[in-house]
Amino acid sequence: MATQQTPPNGSIIGRDTVRVDGPRKVTGLAQYTSDFHFPGMLYGVPVGATIANGRITKLDTATAEKMPGVHAILHRGNIGKIYRSIPGPGFAGICEERRPPFEDDVVRYYGQFIALAVAETFETAKAAADAVRVTYAAEKPNVDPHLVADDEPDEVMTTFGPRKRLDNQRGDPDAAFANAPVKLDQTYVTPFETHNPLEPHSTTALWENQTLTLYESTQGVVNLRSVLAQMFGLPVESVRVITKFVGSGFGSKLWPWTLCPLAAAAARQVGKPVRIVLARKMMFHAVGHRPLTQQRVRLGATREGKLLSLHHDYIYTRSILDAHHEDCGEGTPFQYSVPNLRVAFGRAKRHVGGGADMRGPGRVPGLYATEAAMNELARQLNIDPVKLRILNEPKIDEGSGLPFSSRHLLECFELGSEKFGWSKRNPVVGSMKRDGLTLGWGMAGCSWVAARFDASANVQLRDDGTCRVASATQDIGTGTYTILAQLASERTGVPLNKVEVELGDTSLPEGPLSGGSIATGSVVNAVFAAADQAIGSIKMIAVSTPGSPFVNRNPDELGFEDGKVFVKNDNSANRIAFSDLLRRAKLRLVSGNGRSAGTFGDPKPKFSTQSFGCHFAEVTWQPEIARLRVSRVVSVMDAGKIINTLAGRNQIQGAVVMGVGMALLEHTEYDPQNGAPINSSLADYIVAVNADAPVVEVHFLDYPDKEINQVGARGIGEIGLAGIAAAITDAVYHATGVRVRKLPVKIEDLLV
Ligand code: MOS
Repeated sequence: MATQQTPPNGSIIGRDTVRVDGPRKVTGLAQYTSDFHFPGMLYGVPVGATIANGRITKLDTATAEKMPGVHAILHRGNIGKIYRSIPGPGFAGICEERRPPFEDDVVRYYGQFIALAVAETFETAKAAADAVRVTYAAEKPNVDPHLVADDEPDEVMTTFGPRKRLDNQRGDPDAAFANAPVKLDQTYVTPFETHNPLEPHSTTALWENQTLTLYESTQGVVNLRSVLAQMFGLPVESVRVITKFVGSGFGSKLWPWTLCPLAAAAARQVGKPVRIVLARKMMFHAVGHRPLTQQRVRLGATREGKLLSLHHDYIYTRSILDAHHEDCGEGTPFQYSVPNLRVAFGRAKRHVGGGADMRGPGRVPGLYATEAAMNELARQLNIDPVKLRILNEPKIDEGSGLPFSSRHLLECFELGSEKFGWSKRNPVVGSMKRDGLTLGWGMAGCSWVAARFDASANVQLRDDGTCRVASATQDIGTGTYTILAQLASERTGVPLNKVEVELGDTSLPEGPLSGGSIATGSVVNAVFAAADQAIGSIKMIAVSTPGSPFVNRNPDELGFEDGKVFVKNDNSANRIAFSDLLRRAKLRLVSGNGRSAGTFGDPKPKFSTQSFGCHFAEVTWQPEIARLRVSRVVSVMDAGKIINTLAGRNQIQGAVVMGVGMALLEHTEYDPQNGAPINSSLADYIVAVNADAPVVEVHFLDYPDKEINQVGARGIGEIGLAGIAAAITDAVYHATGVRVRKLPVKIEDLLV
């Protein structure tokens, strides 16, 4: 199915590796956040506002409070102090909804939490929440999907700090566009989308004296700790966050939402552990969504297909209070060579909950627009879309002026074309048939950032020949347990089944967020350094323990391979396992710590570090019954060294299936009357499922990128979703002759 990378001799890096946590998951031993139970634990159910704009004039909790089994109804009048939080240096203290819950009487989006019922059972808490009577002074909300940029200054504040609205500029794009012999000027729209991880957001808060422990379904235990410590006025060491398994997040669990401080405040009040698990419906309100984007793309080109200018002007929705930045232009300045370019953005406030990162934030909707525009330009020029891209391949990152650390996009196109059979394409609309179906073929390129976050790890080598590797990062279903095990095994020679992995706990050495496709790349050097330090201790023991064959040697004379110590430059077979040396020294274990500094947001980078790739997509179209399906996708990714090719292919396949959803199905619709998301259930918010999944063929190039880490691994969690919607919409055009520029493509769009 995929190009198998050739692993270096004996290395476990770059191999198909079955998930080390698989047996725990399929036997039910894996504990997700709401699988942890505590004596006396109570259940919290939030009350969500049923208006999207206005004020609460009266909150009547009398009936709810009297219900048997109810311990408290928390609201603005009795919640107690919750402070605000601010971002700290580095990637800390990040939060998309800064306003502490219940801070004022103002309602700014439908479903905003306005009270919390706390009771002995979930059912009682739900009944009590439903019994809370609220009176509002409601005003008409603005959830208009047509966007005009708000009047704002040239520099605006966002969740990630101040941003200039002029993202990037070079040359004279206006003049170049005006004079270009061939022009394209189109606007592309991507809808509000709601992350729908299988596991709902959940949190359980426990207080013991002045320390707070949170079991939380999060993609970042360390960041969550820093936000919650601020909100409760505690030193960070008094807050512990535990996340052992996450039923995915897609970005909705990257940053804390208001249910965490609510659970903590409730547990403080009632003196017992409190758990909140959100209902699916609430997940459409209060835990983020991908903002709606409206992106105008202008391309100027020569008749031969050389780009002369590129304008990318995008507007996205933001919530009333907060400032998630949907960075649609992030990949635009360097995807293609173009001398004249401008990328700029505006924002439009709407009465919706906080926007959030959703798999491939910014660049995924951004590349949909720019890649769709490239495909339209190819049609206009009568040039093959692959050829148009090859014609505009840059030598360096023209946005930053830096060389790429590693870019092999042309090889992706070549391999993708070959595997897909692109040479058999007849570009005439509706001309290709198979088994009575009309075929449509389309393609697109993609990219995603590569970098490291700060990471630290601990590695123990133990007298029974086992190894333990630990880091306060998370496995959100992507395979981080397995990656950590592979890295520790690679460096220590301990076989995979003897490596124990601990993660998801802030009491471990601080690890990276599971976000930005950056976790894997971040942990490599930290785990290797920790292993090296532990191995250094083993060598010290080897030279200093009575009875060891290495006594009185200098540790530098010793080598370490496959878990055994030996004398370098000595071919005699005296190799001693570290477990033997530990037992001889009467030691249970040695421990090593490793750190690796982040590169994300480096103000003075030497290289532009990005992954690249492409998708080739086939749709089938039956005009008689208006049935459209994505039948086949070939994806080629240039993402450095793939540490686990099995989990890696799985990431890209999953992203492509999500891309089918993005292109054809997913959108959240807000009711213009009351501002409620209308299709707020899994029955009405349609995601792609197995029945919608095409055959997905994934190929990885194998160019390790040593700028990122020692094995050259870049992340692959998000790139698979980049570009795929543009490939599918171009295939739709090829099959049907209908050009849809507003996602998702609906059947009614094609009934013309
Ligand atoms: Mo991803 S949107 O960085 O979880």
